[in-house]
Amino acid sequence: MDVSPFPYQGPLEPSEVSGRDGLITDLVTRITRRKVTALLGPRRYGKTSVLRRVASELTEIETVWVDLYEVSSLADVAVRFDTALAGARGRLAELARRYSLEVSLNLGGLKVSLAGPARNRPDPALSFALLLEVLVRTATSTPTLLIVDEFSSVSKVAGAAGAMRTAFQHHYRDFGLVFAGSQPSMMRSLFTHQPQPFYGQADLVDIGPLDAAAVDDIVGRGFAGTERRAGRLGQLIFDYSGGHPQRSMQLADCCWENTPPGGFGHDAWADGLAQMRRLCADPMERMFSDHTASERQTLRALAVSGSIFGLEADLLDLAKSTAQGARTTLIDSGDLVADDAGKLRVTDPALADWIRERFPL
Ligand SMILES: Nc1ncnc2c1ncn2[C@@H]1O[C@H](COP(=O)(O)OP(=O)(O)O)[C@@H](O)[C@H]1O
Ligand SMILES: [Mg+2]
Repeated sequence: MDVSPFPYQGPLEPSEVSGRDGLITDLVTRITRRKVTALLGPRRYGKTSVLRRVASELTEIETVWVDLYEVSSLADVAVRFDTALAGARGRLAELARRYSLEVSLNLGGLKVSLAGPARNRPDPALSFALLLEVLVRTATSTPTLLIVDEFSSVSKVAGAAGAMRTAFQHHYRDFGLVFAGSQPSMMRSLFTHQPQPFYGQADLVDIGPLDAAAVDDIVGRGFAGTERRAGRLGQLIFDYSGGHPQRSMQLADCCWENTPPGGFGHDAWADGLAQMRRLCADPMERMFSDHTASERQTLRALAVSGSIFGLEADLLDLAKSTAQGARTTLIDSGDLVADDAGKLRVTDPALADWIRERFPL
């Protein structure tokens, strides 16, 4: 059995990342020049994949990778940093362990002690501050890149960003520092709103969709490498996905599954798309029904007629002010994105497609 050349679950291996050369070079340069950077983009646009690749290209630098996905308390944040530091390698790991011992911190053991009996439980804020101190001391002693992925989640934990800012602020030139996050508006506001601890502390870099040539290349190589030919499939996939990386890969996989060795990918288009729609039906229905009524109407208007004020909006009796309010919420959550020309669209092409199928004109 062939393994599919189109993985679409979770981040890619560094060697699997393509179509992002400009962004990768830009990030490598920024890190080398010690420019604090925040990488912004919707979920599944390939932020983690690109950063993995960047880390692998910076061979002289050890990476500490903190994943703050859905953190819910300061203890939780501290544990993520503890896990990240304990998972580091090489000289960085050695130094981190040494410096931890000096402040009586059991690196990698924070989760256990925070879950222990209440009377022995360390203060999470204190543990976090100590950990950050160890991290900064380590990172300033050996070439280090600190990646804080899903940083937007810190907005839910009082004091977390402030503690990080306090620890990092005098060391921006001492180690590489990149933040990444999936809620673009929240990420933006963490770095551009005055009261935020990281206000003005990072350059913002957007990750966009893949371009048509990149999708065509990825699809073409995936098929060619498994004794199939893509033919016009790359273009068909791009037309559907608008370059959304994960959906492009998922649809490519569905088409690939329906292409026999020696066959042409574009001949499998109808079957591949049908398979994609079957796979997405339930998740899309759930995703759609999780929105409020006015958000659902706005998504519908946009997906079906390309505008939140168009024909479909009239049909749905969607008032202009309601649509404008919902639009703001949906942009903030990353459910809508503007393309280069400023035209708004539903971020997830599978959701847009599901809406159009479910509510035809
Ligand atoms: N450069 C790329 N080329 C092809 N597919 C990609 C690329 N980057 C991301 N993807 C697809 O998107 C999926 C999610 O990538 P990931 O890095 O986890 O996104 P994010 O961190 O933005 O949520 C991957 O499993 C892969 O299918
Ligand atoms: Mg990610």
